[in-house]
Amino acid sequence: MAFDSGLAAVDFSILRTPGKEGELHYLDNAAMALTPDCVINAMVEHDTLRRSNVKRGLHRLAEEATEAFEEARAAVAGYLGIKDPDEVVFTGGATAGINILAHSLGLMFERNDEVLISQLEHHSNIIPWQVIQQRQGIKVRYLPITSDGRINLECAEEMIRSRTKIVSVTHGSNVTGAITDTRNLSDLVHDKGAFLILDGAQTAPGGPMELNVLGADFYVFSGHKVYGPTGVGVLWGRKEILKNISPAIGGGEMIRDVGLEKSTFLDPPHRFEAGTPPVTQAIGLAAAVKWLAGKDLNGMHSHLRRLTLRIMEGLTELSGGIKILGPETGMERLPLVSFSVDGLHPHDICQVMNDRHGVALRGGFHCAQPLHDLLEVDGSTRASLAIYNNDKDVDAFLNGMEDCLKILG
Ligand code: ALA
Repeated sequence: MAFDSGLAAVDFSILRTPGKEGELHYLDNAAMALTPDCVINAMVEHDTLRRSNVKRGLHRLAEEATEAFEEARAAVAGYLGIKDPDEVVFTGGATAGINILAHSLGLMFERNDEVLISQLEHHSNIIPWQVIQQRQGIKVRYLPITSDGRINLECAEEMIRSRTKIVSVTHGSNVTGAITDTRNLSDLVHDKGAFLILDGAQTAPGGPMELNVLGADFYVFSGHKVYGPTGVGVLWGRKEILKNISPAIGGGEMIRDVGLEKSTFLDPPHRFEAGTPPVTQAIGLAAAVKWLAGKDLNGMHSHLRRLTLRIMEGLTELSGGIKILGPETGMERLPLVSFSVDGLHPHDICQVMNDRHGVALRGGFHCAQPLHDLLEVDGSTRASLAIYNNDKDVDAFLNGMEDCLKILG
């Protein structure tokens, strides 16, 4: 039976807001997915019945809150396909996860050590390493990209060398949509004794996974792209590595013993969760991944691939200097399409699409300015899909783009 996106859409009150029905075509999911009611309800229920600080209280509410928080950790571990929930660190988002890693792993770097990232990265996987580069004299190097917007993995063998300590790359590009094949990369990285970090911000919404298959040492993602709340994310790391790295952020609840001269730290994950963690948001995130895991995910993937191809084919048929910035086929590709239009600014396109067609898009650099510089485009417009999108959304997008070209062209 064909996948019915309407069955997922009924879970989202925001899609049924009076006056909005039929008018909202939300295609900005790579920035933030909408949240199903069950996630909002789980957070309201928690704050109504169990709100209290975790890991520290000696009363009933605190115990219940701690239990709910640790259950959320276990649910996320299940979603990632890992056995040990202690490998799951709750963070503020994917950006916070990479920053934690840069600063913690950075403590081990020596001058002239190297971090290898790629030209495809989001700013959150560039800036933290540039900060360490400036502070510690390490070198950040960049894997080039192919003409269809994938990381050029053929260069990896030559570029990963004994001075390389970290290879940190996107698992799926928020601009080109290319999914990175990590299997050979993982072997190359580990042969040189380095660590592999994957930015999973765009791949985590694809459904439950088996992280071990990816061969990474660390994987980060954000709650708000996985139908969960803002302000929460996950840093997964192999326990044997997490145990041996120092925390870069200090505070309460991550310590074993504090002295005026020296302190010792708890085991992971608590060592990396200084201060009060995002308790309610973690519970919302757990509700989101459990909700998603209950959907027909194979059906969802085929449906989203078909809609992505419709968008790509529809754009190709429109005349007007449209260039799609990613792989030309739907294989190993996320359900998003970024494109530039000769002579048109993405902000103008987004404005017309919103005002005249009710289509929500993203326009600009999508936090990947070096990539746009490399592609020699002054920003791009992006349509990104999620489980509730349907053919009507794609029709509205394509009709809207035809109108845009007429009005702005
Ligand atoms: N980084 C997010 C995006 O790609 C916000 O839109």
